[in-house]
Amino acid sequence: MSKSIDEIRQEFLNFFHSKAHQIIASSSLVPNNDPTLLFTNAGMNQFKDVFLGIDNRSYRRATTSQRCVRAGGKHNDLENVGYTTRHHTFFEMLGNFSFGDYFKYDAIRFAWELLTSKQWFNLPQEKLWVTVYATDYESYNIWTNDIGVPLNRIIRIGDNKGIAYNSDNFWQMSETGPCGPCSEIFYDHGNHLLGGPPGSIDNDGDRYIEIWNLVFMQFNRQSDGTMLNLPKPSVDNGMGLERIAAVLQNVDSNYDIDLFKKLLDAVALVTGTNNINSKSLRVIADHIRSCAFIISDGVVPSNEGRGYVLRRIIRRAIRHGNMLGTNNTFFYKLVAPLIEVMGSVASNLKVQRSIVEQILRTEEEQFNRTLKRGLTLLDEELAKLNPGDSLKGETAFRLYDTYGFPLDFTLDICRERNLDVDQTGFKSSIEAQRKRARESRNFRDYYSNLLPLEEISYFLGYEQLKHQSRVIAIFHNGHPVDIICNGEEAIIVLKETPFYSEMGGQVGDQGELKAASGSFEVIDTQKYGNTIGHLGKMSYGEIRIGMNITAQVNEIRRQSICLNHSATHLLHAALRQVLGPHVQQKSSLVKDKYLRFDFFHSKAMKLEQIRQVETIVNKYIRRNISIKTEILTLEEACKKGAIALFNDKYDKYVRMLSMGDFSKELCGGTHTSRTGDIGLFMITKESGTAANIRRIEAVTGEEAIILFHQQNNLLNQVTQLIKSDNQTIVNKVRTLQEHSRQLETYINKLTNKYAIQQVLSISHNVRNIKGIKVLVTQLDNVESKVLRIMVDHLKNKLGSAIIVLATMIAGRIDLITGVTKDLTDRIKASDIILHIAQQVGGKGGGRADIAQASGGKNTHTLATALASVEAIILNNF
Ligand code: SER
Repeated sequence: MSKSIDEIRQEFLNFFHSKAHQIIASSSLVPNNDPTLLFTNAGMNQFKDVFLGIDNRSYRRATTSQRCVRAGGKHNDLENVGYTTRHHTFFEMLGNFSFGDYFKYDAIRFAWELLTSKQWFNLPQEKLWVTVYATDYESYNIWTNDIGVPLNRIIRIGDNKGIAYNSDNFWQMSETGPCGPCSEIFYDHGNHLLGGPPGSIDNDGDRYIEIWNLVFMQFNRQSDGTMLNLPKPSVDNGMGLERIAAVLQNVDSNYDIDLFKKLLDAVALVTGTNNINSKSLRVIADHIRSCAFIISDGVVPSNEGRGYVLRRIIRRAIRHGNMLGTNNTFFYKLVAPLIEVMGSVASNLKVQRSIVEQILRTEEEQFNRTLKRGLTLLDEELAKLNPGDSLKGETAFRLYDTYGFPLDFTLDICRERNLDVDQTGFKSSIEAQRKRARESRNFRDYYSNLLPLEEISYFLGYEQLKHQSRVIAIFHNGHPVDIICNGEEAIIVLKETPFYSEMGGQVGDQGELKAASGSFEVIDTQKYGNTIGHLGKMSYGEIRIGMNITAQVNEIRRQSICLNHSATHLLHAALRQVLGPHVQQKSSLVKDKYLRFDFFHSKAMKLEQIRQVETIVNKYIRRNISIKTEILTLEEACKKGAIALFNDKYDKYVRMLSMGDFSKELCGGTHTSRTGDIGLFMITKESGTAANIRRIEAVTGEEAIILFHQQNNLLNQVTQLIKSDNQTIVNKVRTLQEHSRQLETYINKLTNKYAIQQVLSISHNVRNIKGIKVLVTQLDNVESKVLRIMVDHLKNKLGSAIIVLATMIAGRIDLITGVTKDLTDRIKASDIILHIAQQVGGKGGGRADIAQASGGKNTHTLATALASVEAIILNNF
């Protein structure tokens, strides 16, 4: 019996644990605070700062099983998925790391022992091949002399096209950051498969598969290509779990391992296909893994950045579903079987299941609609072409970009109609778009923009708000300076500081840095690597490096922030209680004036649910629970039921914040000491920010009291105005509404009566022009509403007529014209109104049978304007 994937993962971790490595949890797929990276793409990502020497850990050896996504960015396997036996958008990387501890010798020795020792993976040595970077003689010698790999199975790989460090055996995470030469171990799956050994022309086949990459981290690559030495040579070894599982389960393809076999069965079931060898099945099985995990790590489909990549993967899966003949929404149905096959790795996904399904379902339904619209556009464009013509590349691009039609999709449809596609035009449109995307890239080079800080500042602000400290660096316009003077802006770094730097949604502190020679107003605090920077301006005097200063946080503001942060935790717990455990924080903002909390939930909250949440939070505020922080290992914290959020890096120890048993979260923020301090919690708004994401805004403490008073004042004003009180106000407003409705009906009746009277009083003005009844009259102080009723009455009364009425109210002229239907062929009310209106300076228009104008101010020309009506009639009849 071969080992299951779960056993292999565990055995790997056990092996390195036995070699004194700390077992660390996988980080999120969304790298925290690293704009150079789209998704976590390697085990080393969470340790990037440790390699760079700007983060310290309590351990020097670590091992992980890291969930990774390679779709977009430097390492992108998306287009290969389904077409090879070994590429995935989502995979788990088994890693072992040394941070300035062991280097090449032990890295190689450990790898060889795990792979070949009888006690562990027990692989035949003759099946293993090795590559090294061409100039890495040290590794070459270790492999040959210490390990004893025969020379014919060690291949030295140099730089591609002679470009320095551009080699399969030089690994770097992204365009910048830690990197180094690597040595790879390959497994020969046997001569029944095609493909040559590494370094050969046909090395892309399925026979020799790279299973382990041993990276010797030595450099920090800058955006201009310069390689700086890392503070300490380190190790980053990564092995694809699915690949080693294929080897140990003695199958040729990753898709034949236990996990994928089950998942492929599930895909066949939900798509209803018999074609179990189809590539599309593999694509879908792969894509559900990346999509479900990406969503459960907090990303939703959108049109930019990570959300866009997610959308493209979902669409690709759906299209492959369509290729298998599926018409129904199917993709979301794979979340449940996925949870089943992923075992303990899917614990968070399990909690998120309903919302992940919902997001996938909404996206698929929406895409199916887009697909239909795209097909309509394509049909329209194709209708314009004759057999043998080509569809414009631009159109194919629009279908691709806006409607998600891959080129081969469009090609297929065109081929059926004997049409071609201008593929060159398509490619140049894509290139132009890529260029635009590159230019507007958010994922900029982050590290090279960092202030050149090596100092570590210590945060003391959990306990103190005031501290005597020393200035260790000053930056003005991004450059280090020795002194900062009156009125100048700067970033000041202290040895120790009570100022909290913006993190985890909590804003940075404000306050004052006071020296004997001057004072600096801090308007924000930010973290740069391990250094805390105080951003602000000199209020007066000067401050120099080395000076002693008193750092004083604005206490009132900090306290308000603490209240909002603690209330955020209560809110999170209350939402889970009222809406369900799928409620997961998407993002949060904790300021002094208010808090904002975005979370996954598919529907708008009902008013009673909002009240329920508010009531629960206020109940726990009144219980006045003491808020405790504990430093624990991640494992201990998880055992105690802590919710871990968006932390892509877990140190050995984490900070767990508890409010009794009601709320336990890992959190680095500042909090108040008892829930009672929050005083009052009021939700001010519930809204949606995107599909399946809701947002709550709320206030606490003083701000809640202010809001409460404002609302009370409003209520008081209204009750006074309508002469009511809090008990009777609603009934009173209803009565007033009813009363005003009655008045309106009454006024309408009166207006009608009045209009009839007016009609009677002017009927004698009717003249006969060429056999047509014409009534042109000026009235005084008649509302335009009445004029309209009068025209209707006059039309009825006269049967066939042309009517023009004018009235003056407060020096302004209102006009109306009516033409009975039998005459509108010859003359139109709208033409007459324009003719008169322009003479009196008014504006208006309307239909052939009725038209109105208003705003005319030339009262002295009104009589002439009205007299001119006769001439137009004469012209038309
Ligand atoms: N970082 C290397 C890789 O991803 C090895 O862990 O291949």
